[in-house]
Amino acid sequence: MAVAATGGTSRRIGRYTPADLDQMLFIERASYPNPWTGQMFAEELDNRLCHIFVSRDGDGGAAEVLGYVCFWLFLGEMHLLNVAVDPARRRQGVGRRLLSHALDFAAARGAKVGFLEVRRSNRGARRLYEEYGFSEIGIRPRYYEDGEDAVVMLLEISN
Ligand SMILES: CC(C)(COP(=O)(O)OP(=O)(O)OC[C@H]1O[C@@H](n2cnc3c(N)ncnc32)[C@H](O)[C@@H]1OP(=O)(O)O)[C@@H](O)C(=O)NCCC(=O)NCCS
Repeated sequence: MAVAATGGTSRRIGRYTPADLDQMLFIERASYPNPWTGQMFAEELDNRLCHIFVSRDGDGGAAEVLGYVCFWLFLGEMHLLNVAVDPARRRQGVGRRLLSHALDFAAARGAKVGFLEVRRSNRGARRLYEEYGFSEIGIRPRYYEDGEDAVVMLLEISN
C-alpha cells in the first residue's frame, strides 16, 4: 500500500473495499453528468481485468475517500476507465498520485501502452494526462451521450 504524508495527515492508496462505495458514488455524481451507478461499479469488480484503487485519508470505517481510479489491464494494455477526486479535495495532488499508482501497477504487470478517452472540454484532466506523457492520437466524434467529442490519448509505458 502506498503511503503519502500530506499536510500532516496520512493519505493512502489501496484496493477498493465495499466500505468505500457510498463515498465513491457521491464523488461520481459530483464529477460527471452521467455518473456510474453502484451496479456499474459492481460489474467492473466482477471483471477480473479490472482494478480499482482508492485514495483515503484515515483508517477503517472513519476513512475519508478522496478519489479513485479504475482501469483494465489485458494483453499488455492499460485502459483507464475512470479517475475522479472529491471536488473539495481537488488541486491537492490526489489525481496525480492515483494516476501514478495506476501506471506503476500497470508497468509492474507488463503493460506496454496506456489508452484513455477524455472529453474535449476537460482541460484539467487533459493537462494531468499530458503531464504523465499521454499524447492525443485521435478524436471519437460525439462519443458522449450529450454529443461531446472524446479525445483519445496514448502513453507508451516504460517498464
Ligand atoms: C481530473 C481530476 C481527477 C484531477 O484531480 P486533482 O486531484 O484535482 O488533480 P491534481 O491536484 O493531482 O492535479 C495535477 C495537475 O493536473 C492539472 N489539473 C488538474 N485539474 C485542473 C484544472 N481544473 N484546471 C487546470 N489544470 C488542472 C494541473 O496541471 C495540476 O497540477 P497543479 O495543480 O500543480 O497545477 C479531477 O479534476 C476530477 O475528479 N474531475 C472530474 C472527473 C474527471 O473529469 N475525470 C477525468 C475523466 S477522463
